[in-house]
Amino acid sequence: MFNIALPKGRLAEKVCGLLAGIGFDTSEVMSDSRRLVFTDAEGKVSYFLVKPSDVAIYVERGVADIGVVGKDILLETKPDVYELLDLGIGKCTMSVAAKEGFRENKERPLRVATKFVNIASEYYSSLNREIEIIKLNGSIELAPILDMSDVIVDIVETGTTLKNNNMKVISQIMPISARLIANKTSYKFKSGFIDELTEKLAEAIK
Ligand code: PRP
Repeated sequence: MFNIALPKGRLAEKVCGLLAGIGFDTSEVMSDSRRLVFTDAEGKVSYFLVKPSDVAIYVERGVADIGVVGKDILLETKPDVYELLDLGIGKCTMSVAAKEGFRENKERPLRVATKFVNIASEYYSSLNREIEIIKLNGSIELAPILDMSDVIVDIVETGTTLKNNNMKVISQIMPISARLIANKTSYKFKSGFIDELTEKLAEAIK
């Protein structure tokens, strides 16, 4: 049995499409939004639908042999897994954003609201800028609107959320995309299968 952790939500369909394109039977995975475990007709591959930020945990612990996860999560949580391939999907930019017309007061620490505490801390530390982190779990854009923070560090995909909330990107930290990852022990024992899968995916996304 080979186990694959897939990110629930906006990436799931694209990842299933990629896997289907290289011969995996993912037809059932997108058919039932409440089911979490799917096994293909031959009983050889199982798929787990997990919260995107949890994919790397399942892979690191070996419950899943491979998974697909955003580079943002890899940089933030630094899981002990192999990163095998940039899948070129789920593209967005880790950015600093603020309300239109924001002027930074350099006399005091910058208040930064974010889910990505480590990425934000490392970024501002590289700029020698003192910050106060406000850790949030979602709807980060609300923090500057309510003047709880000066800026946010968050992923920007289409820019619609920022635009609709009268905010703008003030700097780009790094490009982000989905990555194929593997458990280190699985890779040791199933390297033939994993390498073949990786090569096929690499070919398919060319
Ligand atoms: C993410 C991110 C932004 C939004 C950016 O949130 O945190 O809010 O998407 O996308 P856009 O540039 O296309 O508008 P998500 O939808 O994952 O929900 P969250 O607010 O719960 O983090």
